Amino acid sequence: MAESGIRLHTSLPPGEPYLIPRAADPCALVIFGATGDLTHRKLIPALYRNRKKGRLWDRTRIVGVARRDWSTDYFREHVLDGVKKFGGTFDEKVWTDFASRLHYVRGDLEVPADFPQVDARLREIEGKPANRLYYLATAPEHYGPACDALAAAGMAAETEGWRRVVIEKPFGHDLSSAEALNHRVHASFREHQVYRIDHYLGKETAQNIMFLRFANTLFEPVWNRRYVSNVQITVAENVDVGTRGGYYDQAGVLRDMFQNHLLQLLSLVAMEPPASLNANAVRNEKAKVLGNIRPIRLEDTVRGQYDGYRAAERVAPDSQTPTFAALKLCIDNWRWKGVPFYLRSGKAMPSRTSSIIVEFQAPPDVMFGLARNQSFTPNMLSICIQPEEGIHLRFETKVPDTLAESRSARMDFSYRDAFPDVVLPDAYERLLLDALKGDASLFARSDGIEIAWALLDPVLDGWTKTPAVSPLHSYAPKTWGPAAADELLARAGHVWRYGCGEEGCSI
Ligand code: BG6
Repeated sequence: MAESGIRLHTSLPPGEPYLIPRAADPCALVIFGATGDLTHRKLIPALYRNRKKGRLWDRTRIVGVARRDWSTDYFREHVLDGVKKFGGTFDEKVWTDFASRLHYVRGDLEVPADFPQVDARLREIEGKPANRLYYLATAPEHYGPACDALAAAGMAAETEGWRRVVIEKPFGHDLSSAEALNHRVHASFREHQVYRIDHYLGKETAQNIMFLRFANTLFEPVWNRRYVSNVQITVAENVDVGTRGGYYDQAGVLRDMFQNHLLQLLSLVAMEPPASLNANAVRNEKAKVLGNIRPIRLEDTVRGQYDGYRAAERVAPDSQTPTFAALKLCIDNWRWKGVPFYLRSGKAMPSRTSSIIVEFQAPPDVMFGLARNQSFTPNMLSICIQPEEGIHLRFETKVPDTLAESRSARMDFSYRDAFPDVVLPDAYERLLLDALKGDASLFARSDGIEIAWALLDPVLDGWTKTPAVSPLHSYAPKTWGPAAADELLARAGHVWRYGCGEEGCSI
């Protein structure tokens, strides 16, 4: 049984529950920023679903803390709306039970003197010494001060049970701020207490990358420079910046998507097999492979901004912030030397799609009667992360009743067909449960965060200081970004592949 407590019973008949996670330890889950959007849309609905699945202990208390002068009753009423909208099928009985575990405590993160009072209220709610998970669902500038204040109030010490803290992204905005934040957090919490969340790692299909690679013997032998021609990771969104201009214009696509989600996906695809699913074993391998990425040349980067972005709310009228980027990365190790990893992400793209495509090399010799200049479609494996979750394999096959004509065909695995009775859980469902159970394997470790920033800092710097090397292109909304992104691949004879969209996979 894997350390996470998850066991896959594939032999059970359809309809039987096959995921049996160990229920989380009894504790108080204290959400700072309890009146915010993340709590409303993601955290409480995910906890509700976990309770519905019997995965939270009876003695779990969920305590919202925020500045507003709300009562517990009002808090329950407020989150009920989120549970109904985002919590799946609503069940009155489950809700009544769940609501009785919800509490609200007023406390201002910016006022350290509030913390001892919050602690006193928590003790009343807990009744006796309990474990605690603090969730910082707050603006990033509060992460450091909140950790300081928790420690100063004696709320980080593990004398009466464990104490853990979940920290949302963004974790810093460059290498030095991330190092400073790690340093500050470590002054209050030891690394084993810190859970830096990246919701992409909680996506069912992202977790499946390790299963695909290491629970099968089929793929791993060809998962290297001898057989792989290039790897493409695309995380495209069809929405634009919307109302998040204030944050986004300071961040841009590299900080918002690459430093975390895309590099995490890359590390899952490229890392060596860990010795176990133990958090440090997995994170050692991830840190190693990220550390093997060669410094990115500015010539291997493309940045774009969609037309109309500058008119968005709280975006500077002359903003140079990229809303799209494509990068070519090279991993200098035995497995991947010479294999380009192309990463791209953008807003206002034609469709919402996150996929990883492993493109294999052409066969060494072609004995079939291909016409001159004709070539096979390369073998490709596509891992569709969203929205149509699945795995697809493109390969060549003989056209029946021909002498030696070949056509490419596709083998499909779709979650929808293979697991018709399972509603794929939201990423937060699994991640919250893992943090409650003390399994940090799907959370970023301090070194991983810093290595990722160290990789991107020079690109961010180069884009500002020598903009001519990789100029900011504009692109029309609902297109796949600037033409320069195609040229980036064309230089090596590659083309972007399109993974899953609403209509299914298109490799
Ligand atoms: C967030 C980014 O981390 O991920 C957002 O800040 C982005 O800008 C979001 O929209 C995408 O997540 P998902 O799960 O919708 O692909």
